[in-house]
Amino acid sequence: MSKDFKVKVLATGMAVPEKILTNFDLEKIVDTTDEWIRKRTGMVQRHIADENTAASDLAYEAAKNALQYANMEPKELDMIVISTVTSDYSFPSTACLLQEKLGCRDIPAFDVSAGCTGFIYGITIAKQFIETGYYNNILVIGVEILTKITNWKDRGTCVLFGDGAGAAILTRATKSDSSFIIDTYLGANGKVAELLIRKGGGSRNPISKKVIEQDMPFLEMEGNKIFRLAVKAMGDSAEIILKKNNLTGNDLDWLIPHQANLRIIYATAHRIKLPKEKVIINIQKYGNTSSASIPIALDEAIREGKIKRGDLVMLDAFGAGLTWGSVLFRY
Ligand code: UT7
Repeated sequence: MSKDFKVKVLATGMAVPEKILTNFDLEKIVDTTDEWIRKRTGMVQRHIADENTAASDLAYEAAKNALQYANMEPKELDMIVISTVTSDYSFPSTACLLQEKLGCRDIPAFDVSAGCTGFIYGITIAKQFIETGYYNNILVIGVEILTKITNWKDRGTCVLFGDGAGAAILTRATKSDSSFIIDTYLGANGKVAELLIRKGGGSRNPISKKVIEQDMPFLEMEGNKIFRLAVKAMGDSAEIILKKNNLTGNDLDWLIPHQANLRIIYATAHRIKLPKEKVIINIQKYGNTSSASIPIALDEAIREGKIKRGDLVMLDAFGAGLTWGSVLFRY
């Protein structure tokens, strides 16, 4: 595959709503305990959007943040890719709404639906456009407001999710740049799509009284089956991309896994023989923010001075679809 240009992560940003929901708050809503949630997931609290906040609002804050770090004006962007399953509307896309909010030129803007793997899909798409020389600067965002499609009567799912947005600006790197995306890897398996699904509100089950009565507008998940598939897919994906690039876990400075469950995170690190100290973990603060979890963790780790320019970083995710994928890059 010919690549005319290298691509790098120029800057990142993030945003979460102010309101925090703790495990103790959840004890008052469903039959659960702080102890169960901590032990089974590693989560302690999550941020929750208020009724006036939609995906494009959080995306806007994260984008402004990233543009500021990049020292870039919105008019310099050539494309916007947003990963979300909780867009403001079914259509138009959240990316188009963001393009207007930011005051960009009439650049292409679209959403990607790949569940929690969406940010990895977004980065992979954006990378192609820069590698070929088609565009220079692309804004990629993962944003989710899953708490608005959460069934607060279902303890198996309602304790898991939080809201947030993470952004990255990808740009063309010079040949000698020590920062560049090395490779990406994507996968999907639609055979098990129903294990993690929102059945209502689309063209299969349009909103009706019956659909609402059957709780279809809410997210449904067979948690334990998803758990086992996630451990395998995230481990496989990490191993495949390392092997393809003649690397091992030993070579990595950092792993940023999707923050769905601390046990899945540790299983993934164990699979590639990576010590826990090299894994970026913030699940205790934000819960599972789906496609926002990796860009939020990336931005935080950069801000905290953990990830430095030139470090070898792997992003690794798994989500609805089912989908999975990894990105290997030197920050
Ligand atoms: O982000 C993309 C994909 N999502 C994921 O990757 C999430 C993957 N799944 C998971 O993280 C875990 O499966 C969960 C955290 C959702 C559940 O943990 P688990 O260890 O798989 O538990 P389980 O579903 O097998 O349930 C074990 C028990 C059940 O009770 P019984 O039947 O053993 O009496 C559940 O009813 O735990 C019960 N349970 C709860 N108890 C207290 C389920 N949810 C809760 C809860 N509080 N919130």
